Amino acid sequence: MTKIAVIGGGQIGEALTGGLIASGFDGQDIVVTNRQAERREEFEETYKVKTTDNNQEAVKGADVVFVCVKPYAIVDMLAEINDSLAKNAVVVSMAAAITLDKLEGAVGAQVSVVRSMPNTPMLVRNGMNIVVPGENVTSEQLDTVKELLSTVGKVLEVTEDKMDVAAALAGSGPAYYFLVTEALIDAGVNLGLTREQASELANSTAAGAGQLLVESEQNASSLRYGVSSPGGTTVAALRELEESGIRGAFYRAIDKCVERTRSMN
Ligand SMILES: NC(=O)c1ccc[n+]([C@@H]2O[C@H](COP(=O)([O-])OP(=O)(O)OC[C@H]3O[C@@H](n4cnc5c(N)ncnc54)[C@H](OP(=O)(O)O)[C@@H]3O)[C@@H](O)[C@H]2O)c1
Repeated sequence: MTKIAVIGGGQIGEALTGGLIASGFDGQDIVVTNRQAERREEFEETYKVKTTDNNQEAVKGADVVFVCVKPYAIVDMLAEINDSLAKNAVVVSMAAAITLDKLEGAVGAQVSVVRSMPNTPMLVRNGMNIVVPGENVTSEQLDTVKELLSTVGKVLEVTEDKMDVAAALAGSGPAYYFLVTEALIDAGVNLGLTREQASELANSTAAGAGQLLVESEQNASSLRYGVSSPGGTTVAALRELEESGIRGAFYRAIDKCVERTRSMN
């Protein structure tokens, strides 16, 4: 049975723990760390996992160590747990914008490290996790990491040169869809819908369109053609969006997101 350590039981650490438990992993094979006693109790009660505030103890004997602390804390955290890692352990960093080079530098040359980037739909087990394996990672370790992450959504492996762009689409992506949804709600309210009505319409439409994109055999363009009757109402709305520069805005937004990530590396 795979032994798992989750270092930093915050939002992402909890989402992962919840996904693992819901998929049938035994809580006694998972140890979660947090500095707050109250938070540790919450994990024990809700997920029946082991907890500790001692990160070094937590990683002893763990096959997979998910490090879910904030990016500014990850290098120090890796240095803290380094000597306690099991020989065959694989360390998975969930920290945004921290390169494999930095991660591997912090744990030492022999350790297997996977750089991963989740997104917040992971909280409802519908996330998109991007993974980049470091050079010491065996195919067996990578398969295990992918299997564990797939309890909270989809997993896509990329090479590190693609990570920043992939993260700009999926890691930051939920924010773009939330912004579009907010704008639709305000537009509906502007024309007389109550905020509740507009929210229900926009939220359910976002969820339904998302599900259709993933489940249908058609790509985004064909799905859009399907709701764009010639000379119709939707085409009139789409023309307005195109003339307002929505496509160019997304090209520029993704450029900016990648540029910002690279300035932080
Ligand atoms: N949320 C997202 O949308 C998202 C998306 C992609 C990637 N990520 C990445 O996921 C990681 C976690 O983000 P998050 O949103 O889950 O942050 P978070 O909710 O703040 O969780 C971080 C957790 O780590 C704990 N922690 C910090 N230092 C610790 C230590 N020395 N020992 C034990 N626990 C410690 C914190 O506990 P304390 O309360 O004690 O500080 C907190 O519970 C980040 O690196 C972030 O870049 C997040």
